[in-house]
Amino acid sequence: MFNRRKFIQASAFSTGAMALGQKYLNLPSGTVNKPIVISTWDFGVAANEAAWKVLTKNGSALDAVEQGVSIIEAQGTNQSVGYGGLPDRDGVVTLDACIMDEKGNCGAVLALEKIMHPISVARRVMEKTPHVMLAGDGALQFALSEGFKPMNLLTPSSEKAWKEWLKQAKYQPSINIENKLYEKVAPKKLPGNQYNHDTIGMLALDEKGNLSGACTTSGMAFKLHGRVGDSPIIGAGLYIDNEIGGATSTGVGEEVIRNVGSFLVVELMRQGYTPEQACKEAVMRIIKKKPETAKNIQVGFLAINKNGEYGAFAIQQGFTFAVCDKNKQDLVLKGKSYY
Ligand code: GLY
Repeated sequence: MFNRRKFIQASAFSTGAMALGQKYLNLPSGTVNKPIVISTWDFGVAANEAAWKVLTKNGSALDAVEQGVSIIEAQGTNQSVGYGGLPDRDGVVTLDACIMDEKGNCGAVLALEKIMHPISVARRVMEKTPHVMLAGDGALQFALSEGFKPMNLLTPSSEKAWKEWLKQAKYQPSINIENKLYEKVAPKKLPGNQYNHDTIGMLALDEKGNLSGACTTSGMAFKLHGRVGDSPIIGAGLYIDNEIGGATSTGVGEEVIRNVGSFLVVELMRQGYTPEQACKEAVMRIIKKKPETAKNIQVGFLAINKNGEYGAFAIQQGFTFAVCDKNKQDLVLKGKSYY
């Protein structure tokens, strides 16, 4: 039954959302902040730069997000995305990625081995197959049939980290690396805590006003072989609704999947929440269900709406995101957090 009270609440948020967005972005009424691209974490700056080149040439948001996150997949210097990602507990690097466009088309690869650019394989799944997801060896065989070249994704430094971890072999997902409290919460003497992951999730709004998103990661360090996180799961690690907005997540994927996090954020924006309010509410669901677990893990959401207004919220301090629009190309902002 139609709930009038809830409708009024949502309308109140809607008005607030507009006021907040306009103040924050200095948008004159009725204008849209486009093109724009936003990405999780500090390394999003480099990814945004590549995406921005596409967007400013009137390219599509879809091309922008694919090319943007590809930069991070190929870096080899970060240990949480693509080449150079930390392996699973058997020493195998397995990658998860998904992509979604303005028409609701999507593709994903799960636990893909040996391929540097899982995001591009995910796009081929979307465009060249009737399916949404390919996993494991099937994903690899598909990638090879599409001309992707196999390679060793395990860099010497990630192999060294894995061998170090094997000494205690304690699996203990922890707070994000960027967290200033990291040393306090996750002291180096606990090998399981020295490593964790931070996915790159990217959301773009192009000149035509279309939204797309991409999400890619090597997942949790030293995970069980075959473990898949939220990043390649449409609705969990990424969701786009071209009428409303898009959302992506980072952090402990299991908790994001349990709450279908990114879909929830977009649906909350549909009800009138600002991007930040929607991200906060999704975080609060996780905390409410598992307060004890939430104390020691990180989950962060990042969202954008159709006006190009954006926001983020995380369980723990330290969640950063990168913004690139006409006003500023290398902006890094701190998401608000519960703790
Ligand atoms: N958020 C990435 C993962 O849990 O694998």
